[in-house]
Amino acid sequence: KKRVGVLISGRGSNLHALIEASRHEPDYPAEIVLVASNNPDAPGLRKAADSGIPTLALDHRTFDSREAFDEALDRNLKKAELDILCNAGFMRLHTEAFVKSWWNRHLNIHPSLLPAFKGLHTHERVIEAGMTVSGCTVHAVRFEMDSGPIVDQAVVPVLNNDTPDTLAARVLDAEHLLYPHALKLVASGAVTVEDDQIIVNHSEQIESAPY
Ligand code: GAR
Repeated sequence: KKRVGVLISGRGSNLHALIEASRHEPDYPAEIVLVASNNPDAPGLRKAADSGIPTLALDHRTFDSREAFDEALDRNLKKAELDILCNAGFMRLHTEAFVKSWWNRHLNIHPSLLPAFKGLHTHERVIEAGMTVSGCTVHAVRFEMDSGPIVDQAVVPVLNNDTPDTLAARVLDAEHLLYPHALKLVASGAVTVEDDQIIVNHSEQIESAPY
């Protein structure tokens, strides 16, 4: 099984979905071996600890610079001998050195159909733009925020009476199906992340997506 670390900043519902899949899906090709957060009060850290997974809290406010924080985070993650690193609601930008350090084995989930609607306040902007669909994306991490080769996406409708909160909840339900499936694709080798693209090796796994 591939050894996976998860970076979070808050609630950790995507982390929870990854833990559940890794523990309960038959033959799931990855295990979560470390959960790290820049926010010592992240509720997701408690969920991880309750599940018996080692946790690491590195409060970014106690570091002099973004570089110093990322170096310390990188050093600690390296000790865990991870194969894959997953950002799941990790709300800090990485330095270029950090991104290089995890190149092609670092995933992120974003609550929009990238490359549209990068950044914050996604759901407000989707509604404002009059979109009739939205969704979520799992992609490989690159230097630019919310960009990089796309592993997989799930689509949800935007309804007439949606508010940012009702749309966020519908997208989040899709995220909880998408992320475990996307991690399975990468960990099993069904897809390979290359520098500027995703290579599909076993398309039958992609066709069996639960969304
Ligand atoms: C999720 O909706 C995730 O897509 C988003 O933060 C939320 C975290 O929720 N991430 C981003 O916006 C990153 N650009 P969670 O802590 O319950 O998984």
